[in-house]
Amino acid sequence: MDVQTKKTALRMFTYGVYLLGMKQDTTYNASTVSWVSQVSFEPPLVMVALRNDSLTLGMVLAAKGFTINLLDSRQMEMAGKFFKQATYQDGKLNGHAFEPGAQTGAPVFVDAPAWLECKVVETLGRGDHTVVIAEVVEAGVRDERATPLVLRDTPWQYGG
Ligand SMILES: Cc1cc2nc3c(=O)[nH]c(=O)nc-3n(C[C@H](O)[C@H](O)[C@H](O)COP(=O)(O)O)c2cc1C
Repeated sequence: MDVQTKKTALRMFTYGVYLLGMKQDTTYNASTVSWVSQVSFEPPLVMVALRNDSLTLGMVLAAKGFTINLLDSRQMEMAGKFFKQATYQDGKLNGHAFEPGAQTGAPVFVDAPAWLECKVVETLGRGDHTVVIAEVVEAGVRDERATPLVLRDTPWQYGG
């Protein structure tokens, strides 16, 4: 296999850009993630692949739950603020207001056009990321007409 071709092909796949919210004990955090997909209709399951050495994975496994906040195409700047541990101040994360999810306590950003609240049901660790499979236990839509932020429309890469 040509490694560069593999990288180019994988980077042509379509991904969104989401904010994964989490709360472990009293600590809130959120991370920008792309490797997210639905994996079952019934029960409604999603997966997110999280880097093994990340704070995010540790917090998600400890909390056994998280939120996925879908972003609008105009919210790239917001996504760009969550590449490392977020700062909690005045009830906001990196300056963005949120509400605690009813089922997990994880942050639901008030500006996210849609969101899911998820409970971890399974993990699969094979490569440098761990696939976390979770059941969708709550969902919200604030703006059905939003155009979702997609990785291809950003200057960022995550894949290859
Ligand atoms: C565009 C983009 C997409 C990303 N997608 C993921 C992802 O799907 N999974 C992941 O573990 N990290 C992803 N990251 C990295 C995380 O945003 C973050 O840097 C990582 O969780 C390490 O931070 P932490 O140790 O504070 O958790 C992505 C980064 C960028 C810039």
